[in-house]
Amino acid sequence: MEAWFIVIVSLCVCVLIRAIFSLFHNKTITTPPGPPNIPVITSFLWLRKTFSELEPILRNLHTKYGPIVTLPIGSHRVIFIADRTLAHQALIQNGSLFSDRPKALAIGKILSCNQHNINSASYGPTWRTLRRNLASEMLHPSRAKSFSEIRKWVLHTLLTRLKSDSQSNDSIKIIDHFQYAMFCLLVFMCFGERLDDGKVRDIERVLRQLLLGMNRFNILNFWNPVMRVLFRNRWEELMRFRKEKDDVFVPLIRARKQKRAKDDVVVSYVDTLLDLELPEEKRKLSEMEMVTLCSEFMNAGTDTTSTALQWIMANLVKYPHVQEKVVDEIRSVLGERVREENEVKEEDLQKLPYLKAVILEGLRRHPPGHFVLPHAVTEDVVFNDYLVPKNGTVNFMVAEMGWDPKVWEDPMAFKPERFMNEEGFDITGSKEIKMMPFGAGRRICPGYNLALLHLEYFAANLVWNFEWKVPEGGNVDLSEKQEFTVVMKNALLVHISPRI
Ligand code: HEM
Repeated sequence: MEAWFIVIVSLCVCVLIRAIFSLFHNKTITTPPGPPNIPVITSFLWLRKTFSELEPILRNLHTKYGPIVTLPIGSHRVIFIADRTLAHQALIQNGSLFSDRPKALAIGKILSCNQHNINSASYGPTWRTLRRNLASEMLHPSRAKSFSEIRKWVLHTLLTRLKSDSQSNDSIKIIDHFQYAMFCLLVFMCFGERLDDGKVRDIERVLRQLLLGMNRFNILNFWNPVMRVLFRNRWEELMRFRKEKDDVFVPLIRARKQKRAKDDVVVSYVDTLLDLELPEEKRKLSEMEMVTLCSEFMNAGTDTTSTALQWIMANLVKYPHVQEKVVDEIRSVLGERVREENEVKEEDLQKLPYLKAVILEGLRRHPPGHFVLPHAVTEDVVFNDYLVPKNGTVNFMVAEMGWDPKVWEDPMAFKPERFMNEEGFDITGSKEIKMMPFGAGRRICPGYNLALLHLEYFAANLVWNFEWKVPEGGNVDLSEKQEFTVVMKNALLVHISPRI
């Protein structure tokens, strides 16, 4: 036989085998299932939906397609995981693969100084440096303890404001008080001083207007050069909001830089940022990067905590027997101090298991974020027999996991007792995920201990100082609404009267 004939036949056989193999290969390893997709049209339709609009749709899709589904949103494949064991497999067992963040879109790039903040940074040395700085310099228990005097001051201010509001109003809206209190606390931790009321309000305003406007600004992310012309007013509004934020933050950072040289009493977040060096770029942070990191610190620690506190207090008002049980527990721990003491001290919190159970139940039943922040994989990954592509996004459905009837009996009921049998419930989910209000794995919220401390300390003192009731003719409506976090659709209105 001619040699050329053997070569051609061999080549054809190779190509055929390869084609059969790749056909087989492509068939088995595809992205997770999802609804039918009409190119361009469906991805644009999905793009217009907010996460809260997607949530009920995803619930139906999970029933139909299983615990992991894909939606083509914009130009990306977005994967949603609703199952706690798959979440554990991804975030804990394969943490090094699932801890990246998606590339920022136009608005994200501007607001995060090109992903130079902790929550949006890619999984790499910059993220590690920024996160380690926050965790060890600000959130380490010994540093967190150094702010206990300021927590006491904020508590005192909050109680005084509530008292005065309750004297002139039969029914008070508490969320504004909680937000202001959390801002006072985080502003102090950030800048190292007690700012006057006007300054705290300014910070609150410039941060919240950006946060609450995010859904509206989202459209500017796509075909940005075109969209910023088509939606010129919206683009100008975004630029104005950003400038207002810089105008408020930059003078505070500069003032701290000056002051620090003179007196070094408290270590604030800005102090740690002034000292920090980025390892890859071998440089200090720019002023704009510090503004981004300070905004992140306050956004992450205020809205989430005040939202959770409102949900917890709403349940304590709705279920007076739970409130009484917390008060009884505090009374028994304070013992002799009961008559003269109007403060539950931070040291007392360790002796209040029922209070801890109330906080955990609040976070399970009403997690402030129904999804963790979007994750991405560092390379194409085969996960649970599906392909998770590198340029895709992976989302974890936090609320679904906390409401899983296979784990939680009667999951929509508020029953703190379910945590009383658990010997030290592990909220990090390192061995097993039963709920994940703070996420899990390498990107878990670094502030979860501080958040729990704030929730326990404020909730304990609020019920110890006041009796919380539904106002005449009112009710507690637990319907939800998506803002930056998932908040009460109808803000909690309460009647409070001094207990002591
Ligand atoms: C009740 C209060 C809080 C809740 C429910 C909460 C929840 C979360 C969640 C779900 C994530 C995303 C995790 C992921 O993507 O897998 C997160 C990330 C983050 N949180 Fe929190 N958080 C709270 C309070 C705080 C506080 C007090 C701080 C700090 C002052 C903080 C700082 C951060 C930061 C910096 C990240 C980004 C972490 C990273 O990407 O590596 N959070 N938080």
